[in-house]
Amino acid sequence: MPKKSILDLQNMKERGEKLVWLTSYDYTTAQFAEKAGVEMILVGDSMGMCVYGYSGGTIPVTMDQCIVHTEAVRRGAPNTMVVGDMPFSSYQISPEDAIFNASRFYKEAGVDAIKLEGGRRIIKMIKAITNSGMVVCGHIGLTPQSSGQLGGFKAQGLTAESAYELFLDAIAVQDAGATFLLLEAIPPEVGKIITEKLKIPVYGIGAGQYVDGQLLIVCDMLGIFKAFTPKFVKKYANIADQSIKAMENYAKDVKNEKFPEERHSYSMLPGEKEKFIEKI
Ligand code: KIV
Repeated sequence: MPKKSILDLQNMKERGEKLVWLTSYDYTTAQFAEKAGVEMILVGDSMGMCVYGYSGGTIPVTMDQCIVHTEAVRRGAPNTMVVGDMPFSSYQISPEDAIFNASRFYKEAGVDAIKLEGGRRIIKMIKAITNSGMVVCGHIGLTPQSSGQLGGFKAQGLTAESAYELFLDAIAVQDAGATFLLLEAIPPEVGKIITEKLKIPVYGIGAGQYVDGQLLIVCDMLGIFKAFTPKFVKKYANIADQSIKAMENYAKDVKNEKFPEERHSYSMLPGEKEKFIEKI
């Protein structure tokens, strides 16, 4: 399948065709995603939880970590749109900083777009990055980097007033030049209205069925991440349990000398064993 361009995303919105979007943080999983027909990969700062096990969630994740993981994903999925995720403090300080860090994703990791969290309060940064020729994905609703201000990992847009604030953010992000937008953890009816009102594609993670495409975190949908599972996750596998079972079986086999078997071992060349024994 050829790599999607932003024109394809726009055409898909117009045709009503949903986009399939998944996170990935490494080469192997990116290969699986590309093979499975996933159309866009986010190398999310959710790596803070899924890969690094930080108790501070996404906050400690650095630009250098994001670059290393994004490079690996790019190598694993050369024909898939890859979105780099701007980590906390990589774009909030100044528009210059935002341009510098967004360009690192392009120059060092070969991304097709970058994502940053926030609505009206980061408009200057979105404009600066898009004016530098890069593709921006906005991200509003539950924004994990500011979850402290939101009172935790809580759904947003539950009241008319907060839904309206989200709507204003969505319009502002589009007007600032973002090419597409991600809505996280909001009610479906709010996702529907924003998707219908915006010209750019609007995708969702926990934003209901009416958006232009869906994103899931790979560790959640494969059942790898056990600490907690958000309400919006559908688990398509239980890799954690399968992995633990496989490792238990391996441990048992080693203890009981059932592994390795002859078929897992190398054979010396004919006659060499006797010569070797003679030598020693
Ligand atoms: O880092 C990430 O995976 C994200 C999603 C939660 C949207 O930003």
